[in-house]
Amino acid sequence: MVDTFIEWVRGVLELGFQNPELRVKYRDLIRNFFTAEVEDRKANPKDDLITALVQTEVDGEPIPDPMVIGMCNLQLVAGIDTTWSSIGSALWHFAGHNDDRLRMADADDALWDTAVEELLRFYAPVTMARDAVAEVAIGDVVIQPGDKVLMNFSGANHDPEVFEDADQVILDRQRNRHVAFGTGIHRCAGSNLARMEMEVSLKTWFSRIPEFTLADPEAVTWAGGQVRGPRILPLTIG
Ligand code: HEM
Repeated sequence: MVDTFIEWVRGVLELGFQNPELRVKYRDLIRNFFTAEVEDRKANPKDDLITALVQTEVDGEPIPDPMVIGMCNLQLVAGIDTTWSSIGSALWHFAGHNDDRLRMADADDALWDTAVEELLRFYAPVTMARDAVAEVAIGDVVIQPGDKVLMNFSGANHDPEVFEDADQVILDRQRNRHVAFGTGIHRCAGSNLARMEMEVSLKTWFSRIPEFTLADPEAVTWAGGQVRGPRILPLTIG
């Protein structure tokens, strides 16, 4: 269902970003799909995540259906939009930075590992939010209970007090405790899958298309909203 999932996620996040009717339409398509999948797993258990969620008990009670459906929805959306954004940002970076592109064209595994981490730090595609439950002072700002707070992971990843030469991409950066996947109990559940997807896709790209540049830098478009990455990226290949 790859093509269908892509259409739904684009519908919710891109088209739906400025068009509430489309957002509702695609949200309902996803919700109805998972509602049917949950019913199906109750009748026909399989060896998969939805079955595990349906069969899990918390404090002796099954997880309520709306929560299971919500988790499935999050898994789908969180797994698609994030990785195509981080892979897109990486391609944009290499297309515009010849030295880094040439370096990756014959990189070993150790360099790929640090490069993926550094691209995650630098381009940190995801921004999350919280509802504050207690008063907290950060510098001169006092956050009140009930305030909505955007957590600027990308800003934290460019903190010069934590990262040496924070505004430079250093592909072999050794110490890199970035927060592109968040921090705390809601830290990204798919972080290692995401790292693997980035590494596999970029390695495969470089093995087939080692030479590429931006065809028209002005034509590149970037997604707005909570997940940032290029959406139109014209490249000249070869
Ligand atoms: C480069 C790719 C990705 C980035 C940058 C990213 C980033 C994040 C961030 C910042 C959060 C929120 C952390 C917080 O609220 O404190 C998050 C949560 C989450 N991510 Fe990812 N993510 C990526 C890929 C994925 C993938 C591939 C999956 C699954 C297939 C996934 C599943 C989730 C889930 C389920 C949560 C919610 C965890 C919770 O609330 O307990 N993510 N991710």
